[in-house]
Amino acid sequence: MCGIVGYTGKQAAVPILLNGLERLEYRGYDSAGVAVVSPEKGLQIEKCKGRLQVLRDKLAALPPLTGSTGLGHTRWATHGEPNDVNSHPHVSQNGQVAVVHNGIIENYVEIKEFLLHKGVAFRSDTDSEVVAQLLEYTFNNCADIMDAVYQVLDRLEGAYALGILCVDAPDTLIAARKDAPLLLGYGDGESFIASDATAIIAHTRDVAYMEDGEVAVLTADGIRVYDEYRRPIEKEHHLIEWDVSAAEKGGYAHFMFKEIMEQPEALRRTISPRLRDGEIVFDELSLTDEDLRRFDRLYIVACGSSYHVGMVGKYDLERFLRMPVEVCLASEFRYSEPLVDDRSLVIVISQSGETLDSLAALRKAKSLGGYILSIVNVVGSSIARESDSVLYTWAGPEIAVATTKAYSTQLALLTMLGLYMARRLGRADSAEYAAVTAELALLPEKLQTVLASADAYQYLASLYFNRDCVFFIGRNLDYALGLEGSLKLKEISYIHSESYAAGELKHGTISLIEQGTLVVALATYGPLFDKAVSNIVEVKARGAEVVALTTDSLRDRMEKIATHTLSVPDTHPALQPNLGVVPLQLFAYYIALQRGCDIDKPKNLAKSVTVE
Ligand code: F6R
Repeated sequence: MCGIVGYTGKQAAVPILLNGLERLEYRGYDSAGVAVVSPEKGLQIEKCKGRLQVLRDKLAALPPLTGSTGLGHTRWATHGEPNDVNSHPHVSQNGQVAVVHNGIIENYVEIKEFLLHKGVAFRSDTDSEVVAQLLEYTFNNCADIMDAVYQVLDRLEGAYALGILCVDAPDTLIAARKDAPLLLGYGDGESFIASDATAIIAHTRDVAYMEDGEVAVLTADGIRVYDEYRRPIEKEHHLIEWDVSAAEKGGYAHFMFKEIMEQPEALRRTISPRLRDGEIVFDELSLTDEDLRRFDRLYIVACGSSYHVGMVGKYDLERFLRMPVEVCLASEFRYSEPLVDDRSLVIVISQSGETLDSLAALRKAKSLGGYILSIVNVVGSSIARESDSVLYTWAGPEIAVATTKAYSTQLALLTMLGLYMARRLGRADSAEYAAVTAELALLPEKLQTVLASADAYQYLASLYFNRDCVFFIGRNLDYALGLEGSLKLKEISYIHSESYAAGELKHGTISLIEQGTLVVALATYGPLFDKAVSNIVEVKARGAEVVALTTDSLRDRMEKIATHTLSVPDTHPALQPNLGVVPLQLFAYYIALQRGCDIDKPKNLAKSVTVE
């Protein structure tokens, strides 16, 4: 949600900023802009509404912006419509400072009124511009820019990752962070800031994650970091484990397709190190036996697809652990009165580790005494840092807005966690434990065979891409799986779709089924196959066309009933959604492709939702 990249060094800043923005565009793509500063030319800024390419074209037609210190921004609009003026960077009235911002300044109205009274003229409708204007106003009344930065930060309420340029310090970049991600990159004679590592991985893998309240001063010679009281601090450095190729399309038409295809490898990386001689091992977990015995309730808190992982997890974990599991939308949880206490284990699931609602829910649960265990993909992210224990999914960078490989790895890890806890608590059925762990090891291979049937999903997509409404139905794990299938379809193809517990249909929704309605019936959960068949017969009797997804062993039976049948290899029922989700991802992908949609960057969406 908004991407920031900043550079200071010896090279021309603009090409580095544009390449960084290209990798950050998935975070927002309403508009883009760059600012550079140089002793000769002061601040130079270009920004415009639209995709990054529009900015590139604009810059190509102009004399080059010269300077070796600069900032870039790609926007996902919150305050003020996407247009040229509301794009970042924002410049102060007299052109002394330029600012890029990710987050929301909650008290911007009050600050704006104060500055208007002082005669400051505003250009945009954004909350972000107040930061630039207040900085210049404060700077004019104090000794140096850092004094001004600290005074301004003191006045801001809300969330921010900020990049700041000042004409008086043309070789310096200033960065600040509160509740929005920002990392520092250490290069050889150059320094960087970025919303995430993909933007700078081509230049350095040596990074540090900024914490709330910190301010960083970057020059070509290095980076100094200060805490909220302006005391210098030493940052812990991290080495990014993946390289630039992981953040590139590598010959695929879309990141989403590439990431779907990467799932076997992502699962292998996530599962294998934690599976030793048939035992699930979590070296990274600091949970003691006493902690485990203390828990009498488990919460899973997340948003979107990560929440859907929790929905699948509820079925598995309650069965493994014989413990109540509540799955909560983070945006609801944070404003509710959850019964969390020190006997609660709260599992927060997040690919980005920066989703603001999930972070706020985590903090709430923590304040109530809950033990926070997070399942996160982005190393060093806020949710990871604020948790008591973290299990990382090793999915690699996920660039497409619609999640695929992160979902798969989260799901595998959550199932493993449930089984692991059950084993430690002495509640695991040893035959089932052995069966699930054996199947876990086979999951990447089986998933590969699902991917090999991509043509079948493409064919079905060619039959149904022009529908304007689709229903997903399923029971138990298949119901939870349908939620994700439906979300994938609607977010990238813009087809309205609903997911229903199949048994609920006749309580109202079946009235929407008519001649030709497309129903995607999920029947991969063996124990309830016959029930699923009854529901398929019901919708067919009302004219529905049914695309059914089942397992290879049940395929023959399904073919007699459904209009079209797809199947995935059989595995343990607890893991079946891990295979079942892939045809749904590819079905959505191919439908969106047929409809000519912008698959990696669906309208109105952005990855890493760092605003409420
Ligand atoms: C859908 C999707 C979103 C995310 C949600 C949570 O394809 O990607 O629904 O799952 O925004 O994001 P994270 O997992 O980063 O907290």
